[in-house]
Amino acid sequence: MKIIDGKAISAKTKEELRLEVLGLKEKGISVGLAVIIVGDDPASRVYVNNKKKACELLGIYSEEYALPADTNMENLLGLIEELNGRSDISGILCQLPLPRHLDEKAVINAISPEKDVDAFHPVNVGKIMIGDFDFLPCTPAGVMRLLDEEGIDPEGKNCVVIGRSNVVGKPMSMLLLHRNATVTICHSKTKNLSEITKQADILVAAVGRANFVTADMVKEGAAIIDVGINRLENGKLCGDVDFENVKEKCSFITPVPGGAGPMTIAMLMANTVTAAKKQNNL
Ligand code: GUN
Repeated sequence: MKIIDGKAISAKTKEELRLEVLGLKEKGISVGLAVIIVGDDPASRVYVNNKKKACELLGIYSEEYALPADTNMENLLGLIEELNGRSDISGILCQLPLPRHLDEKAVINAISPEKDVDAFHPVNVGKIMIGDFDFLPCTPAGVMRLLDEEGIDPEGKNCVVIGRSNVVGKPMSMLLLHRNATVTICHSKTKNLSEITKQADILVAAVGRANFVTADMVKEGAAIIDVGINRLENGKLCGDVDFENVKEKCSFITPVPGGAGPMTIAMLMANTVTAAKKQNNL
């Protein structure tokens, strides 16, 4: 059994991107990311800080817009419109979830698809569906990179994704399908879940419930990718997989923290570099 070191693979990916950003600078092309955060959700604050730190490390210019929780749609959409028009901003990201009085869908739709480094805009979602994508959804793309780095080829494999969110489950399934996997998507209404997960050569858990995937649900020798980030009552982070017991049975497993999480930010940086290149016709 191998524990997949997402931190190391993320560091390697970011180093490659740092060199690419340097090369672009020499050509006079700057890469910039605008990050919008509304309100003071503590988890969102941590994510936004990590995104800013990654930009610094890679030499990507970043701007943060921390808006008060009572911001209205007019102000938020006005800011996005301004950022859409700026040539020094390659990518725009609005950290989700937004406070309840704001219309998340309208915000996603307002970001120019060319700057939508989360790949949440319907244009980019559609492109992913037909396999013609510029931006990869960050978390699923990070998972694909982990699989590639470990030499785990999805082609012809039974891949089971637990979770059907627009951010992870659905795009994850599409990326695996593009790589010729046989993909099954499971969710809260799935019957006989463990009968299905036991068929999985590659099992991706994106449920949002601590220790949801137990050893009896896992096929011997499977590769287990844990996308969950759950905070236990004692403050500790853990994934969706019962790591200690499942690791005895599988061939590969990602830890939480230090597995899929660090890859998400690396892929966001990759999308930001892609955006800058596209906007400069490279
Ligand atoms: N909230 C949780 N995950 C994400 C993400 O990938 N992007 C944004 N913008 N918000 C999030």
